[in-house]
Amino acid sequence: MDDSASVPELTYGSYLQLDDLLSLQRDGKDISNDELHFIIVHQTFELWFKQIIHQLKEVRDELGASEVPEKAIPSCVHGMRRVTEIFGLMAHQWSVLETLTPQGFLAFRDELGTASGFESYQMRELEIVLGLTNSMRGSNFDPIEQFRKIVSGDPGQQHALDKLIEASSKPSLLEVVMSWVKRTPIMGSRVDDPDDAITVEDYVQAHLEAFNKHSHDQQDFMMKTTDMKQEMVESRFDAARSQARDFLLPGGDVDRARAGLLFIESYRELPLLTWPRALVDAVVELEESMVKWRHSHARMVERIIGRRVGTGGSSGVDYLDATAAYRVFTDLWGVRTVLVRPGLRPKIGNPEFYGFTVGS
Ligand code: HEM
Repeated sequence: MDDSASVPELTYGSYLQLDDLLSLQRDGKDISNDELHFIIVHQTFELWFKQIIHQLKEVRDELGASEVPEKAIPSCVHGMRRVTEIFGLMAHQWSVLETLTPQGFLAFRDELGTASGFESYQMRELEIVLGLTNSMRGSNFDPIEQFRKIVSGDPGQQHALDKLIEASSKPSLLEVVMSWVKRTPIMGSRVDDPDDAITVEDYVQAHLEAFNKHSHDQQDFMMKTTDMKQEMVESRFDAARSQARDFLLPGGDVDRARAGLLFIESYRELPLLTWPRALVDAVVELEESMVKWRHSHARMVERIIGRRVGTGGSSGVDYLDATAAYRVFTDLWGVRTVLVRPGLRPKIGNPEFYGFTVGS
């Protein structure tokens, strides 16, 4: 008997399960071109969310391993860069949706009832995997509670709730990134070296001195060259100096992860810091691309529905603008505020450790 006759040959269509995929757009129902486009754009985003979550979980697991092999870092950076590209692509995709006119949307909007992107469980899972906490949202919103309610009305959504609970039971990308940067060798000292605490404290104090000098120089220059009120300039720079101290010495003690970030950002040219720097850059680019995506969603919404209440019941554009202010990787952003110009950096200790001598 010829077996090959019973096994259909793999084709483009069967590999991609195209028939299934293309049967999910309510064909046969009487939907307008506008609505078909609305559905396809949403579905495309959800497919990309799926890829992003898959990719970020891989990065989280690789970086969160108790021993992170050197070769894992390039692969994490590569994975995050892919996610950044996807967000970039999605941010541009709003322009396709903007071909929907306000009136065109109103023609079918009421049929959506209270359905809204607000209920996208993949979006919530993505946020949890990244490490966005309820307090970072600055509101009482709790996605797990949201989905418990959804499941009570629609038990078919239990799988979504399970995914969110599972994601929140694991360390987030934020947590694994911060525990990784915490292990950065600082001034040639490794985290488990006996004098590490002293070396790191000395480094942070020396940096703060440099920061204060830099800040006083800038303050003096501004006072001389502008007609801004002197007290205002002084209080602004005073606040910046005390914020820098609070950032690097929260509660008076060194935060080694922040010190590690400071070191990576300050001595970017050291060959040994090439991958740490690339990783930090990849995380910042990823978050920036997500923020831009959120921002462009809000602009698209403003253009199509103005300041109406959303179908999910939120304030609409104002709510979406507030989500664009979320920051998950706050310390990676915060460290930028406390850098000093290269000539003021503390002299690098143990330069041979990093394979380079800095002429500072
Ligand atoms: C005409 C098109 C669209 C309009 C007018 C619109 C409007 C809104 C509004 C007003 C909200 C706030 C929640 C609410 O009250 O409903 C929202 C949330 C959301 N929308 Fe859209 N949206 C549109 C298209 C899309 C598309 C194509 C996606 C892609 C998946 C999407 C994803 C989301 C997500 C994920 C949220 C939750 C944001 C968060 O809570 O962080 N939206 N949308």
